[in-house]
Amino acid sequence: GDARIGLIGLGTMGAALASNIAEKGFDIAVFNRTTQVTRDFAAGAGELAPKITPTETLEAFVAALATPRAIILMVPAGDAVDQQIAALKPLLDPDDLIIDCGNALFHDTDRRAAECGQPFLGVGVSGGEEGARHGPSIMGGGGPELWDRVEDIMLAISAKHEGEPCAALMGPGGAGHFVKMVHNGIEYADMQMIAEIYGLLRDGAGMEAEAIGDVFAAWDEGPLKSYLIEITAKVSRARDAESGAPLLSVIVDAAGQKGTGRWTAIESQHLLTPVPAIEAAVVARNLSSRREERAAGEAIFGAAPQPFEIDQGLLERALIAGKVLCYAQGFVMIAATREAKGWEIDLPQVARIWREGCIIRSAMLDDMAAALADHPGENLMRTPHFAALLKGSHGALRQVVAQASLNGHPVPALSSGLAYFDTMRTGRGTANVIQGQRDFFGLHGFEHVNGKTGQHGPWAKG
Ligand code: 6PG
Repeated sequence: GDARIGLIGLGTMGAALASNIAEKGFDIAVFNRTTQVTRDFAAGAGELAPKITPTETLEAFVAALATPRAIILMVPAGDAVDQQIAALKPLLDPDDLIIDCGNALFHDTDRRAAECGQPFLGVGVSGGEEGARHGPSIMGGGGPELWDRVEDIMLAISAKHEGEPCAALMGPGGAGHFVKMVHNGIEYADMQMIAEIYGLLRDGAGMEAEAIGDVFAAWDEGPLKSYLIEITAKVSRARDAESGAPLLSVIVDAAGQKGTGRWTAIESQHLLTPVPAIEAAVVARNLSSRREERAAGEAIFGAAPQPFEIDQGLLERALIAGKVLCYAQGFVMIAATREAKGWEIDLPQVARIWREGCIIRSAMLDDMAAALADHPGENLMRTPHFAALLKGSHGALRQVVAQASLNGHPVPALSSGLAYFDTMRTGRGTANVIQGQRDFFGLHGFEHVNGKTGQHGPWAKG
């Protein structure tokens, strides 16, 4: 065969990615377990059809590819990936490359890269269907010599920021999927903070969805300019086709999730690199699905959120502060993999490839890339540009969290962002009490301010 690349899994993301690849001029062979899906995809290919070879068996798929082969997997993360690799392996040559472009847990990618017996890349792809079709942000993981084999394709299909491709190799093994996972964690926190602000506008200010959409649309012209703010404006302004009511009034308030945010929270705990705003967002999604319990609570205690007067400018500045803190936490977590995994992930490069294509793309990422480049290893919140931004906005975050709390509005991500900020600027904390308690009940010992370690209180005997 002479197809330059193959793709297995023509679900929403796979089909979009395959079309993108074909459109950029690469011959691509495609396969889907359910043959009808492949036929429908080929039938709908239009002018891209000459670039696409639809195949109906794995054998025909493998035979359609130029050697050494490069095969993208776009199947659901988890067992399906291992099963697909097992089914492919007997048909492959030793140097055929497998590229997992799904949302794999990076530990799985590490394992597959080490054990699957084929050259392997784990590649995080962000941007939803639209991104996959017209330009996603692409976070590669694996050996540079493997990345080189497909780099031209990855750069060609990726989003561009002022002509610069938003695709790069992040590091070895699972590094690409790790960065994608943290991206999704930031995505969860950013989305949750926006939802909290929406709640203050709806239940505090008593605004209609459409008017709330106008507020977000206006913010999208300022420092908050970002994809998530833009689509929140659109979602808020949309109407239900059936009833004509605001769409948000008919969407059930229980958030779904596929697990990447949870993985970020869990992994951050293992790395001892807290990402509390992300954790709060995961918790909020989990609690959102407990609708009956929430209704039962309301029946006993009364509805929590009360109307109060809100300054929209204050909300905007609070969200700016919150957003900076979400990203700061995510970047610190990525930096921590240097020690934990030995992955020298280039933080400014991460910020650069997130500037277009991905879900958390945002005008702020330009300044983040610059700040991370100018101050290697520094928490974003302490870099001069963002320190100045926080100095100008943390007061607003504090007021919003305080007013929200006084008026019964749960704002878990915003308040945990604020607690993180305050904790990380408290030189003298309160863990001396924890250490005293630990020594009291378990003789765990503490470090004395004079530098001596293994010290004990007067309860220690002899
Ligand atoms: C992206 C998204 C995408 C998807 C995730 C998270 O970057 O394109 O993050 O990967 O939306 O699956 O979605 P959940 O909210 O379902 O966990």
